[in-house]
Amino acid sequence: MDPLKGLILSGGKGTRLRPITHTSAKQLVPVANKPVLFYGIEAMAQAGIEDVGIIIAPETGAEIEAAAGEGSRFGVRITYIVQEEPLGLAHAVLTAEPYLGSSPFVMYLGDNLLQGGISELVADFREHAPDALILLTPVPDPENYGVAELAPPADAPRQTQSAGRVVRLVEKPAEPKTDLALVGVYMFTAAVHDAARAIAPSPRGELEITDAIQHLVDAGLRVEPHIVRGWWKDTGRLEDMLEANRLILDNVRERIEGELIDSQVDGRVVIEAGARLERSTVRGPAIVGAGARLSDCYVGPYTAIGEGCTIANAEVEHSILLSGCTVCDLDGRMESSLLGRNVSIRRGDRQPRAYRFMVGDNSDISIL
Ligand code: DAU
Repeated sequence: MDPLKGLILSGGKGTRLRPITHTSAKQLVPVANKPVLFYGIEAMAQAGIEDVGIIIAPETGAEIEAAAGEGSRFGVRITYIVQEEPLGLAHAVLTAEPYLGSSPFVMYLGDNLLQGGISELVADFREHAPDALILLTPVPDPENYGVAELAPPADAPRQTQSAGRVVRLVEKPAEPKTDLALVGVYMFTAAVHDAARAIAPSPRGELEITDAIQHLVDAGLRVEPHIVRGWWKDTGRLEDMLEANRLILDNVRERIEGELIDSQVDGRVVIEAGARLERSTVRGPAIVGAGARLSDCYVGPYTAIGEGCTIANAEVEHSILLSGCTVCDLDGRMESSLLGRNVSIRRGDRQPRAYRFMVGDNSDISIL
């Protein structure tokens, strides 16, 4: 068998995380101070995959290349593949066909996070050699995902984790038949290329990978379902991003490399080298990036403070601050917030007292 390759999809538009994604790729928004995309690359490296192709869009590709590089720091070789337009996940696969050739591959959506990585799946795939392996998990809002219908495993004796047999897959159905969502990690043989060529665009105008997999099922090929045991997050929306941040921070190991002056940290806290805290409290799980300056402030659980941020006289909890932000002299506590790079929020000293803003398009501010 050809060696297994990796394909990470980091193109697309990122409309749901605007305005952050007006200026940056959604796959580079950090979770616990590390770009979401890097978790996927690391999962591939851990599973022993050496060659990883990354699908990029013309608008954000350069930024992704600059961030991830040629891959040596992850222990993989990265090849960048430009998809001129985001015409769907199956279109992305076809765009990567010259790179993938006849190799089987793991496809990983660049904005997805999967606890526990993919090593177990890769082992399953190698052992059972199905034509495709899909990951499923129950969700409360299946209408927002690809949804699977399964039949009992009786006629499929070697199903992984005895999930059953895949009968039907529908992309974002208005009336889902089950609550089993397709997780954004898939394993394919080269048979998927013909399937992707055979399907027509969906009502949203995309070549859906869900339809390509249905095509494999209809052609009688073996598509195995695998139910995800740990947590999984599609970080496409603000609340999912904050939740992913919470889940990752829950597992950080305490590491204090910065300077603490009259300050205290409680629980699982990372203070990166070059960060300085004065008269401040950080309650974990939390991470404070390199070169950040915190004075007279409280940072609460599930907060990731990016590199070079300044927080003074303020309280921040359950939030993600990208690098270079300033948060000063707030009356109340800031929580459940996502601040893009170099955002500044401060109490002004001009009269009359009033809110003064300079915010980008599609920003979202709530004040009580
Ligand atoms: O997150 C899981 C869901 O991902 C699945 O349940 C759905 O079946 C699947 O279609 C997909 O749905 P989304 O609507 O969430 O996909 P999204 O447009 O967010 O794209 C997922 C990733 O793929 C994202 O990192 C952008 C990238 N992408 C997307 C398109 C449409 C590309 O690289 N090229 C594309 O053409």
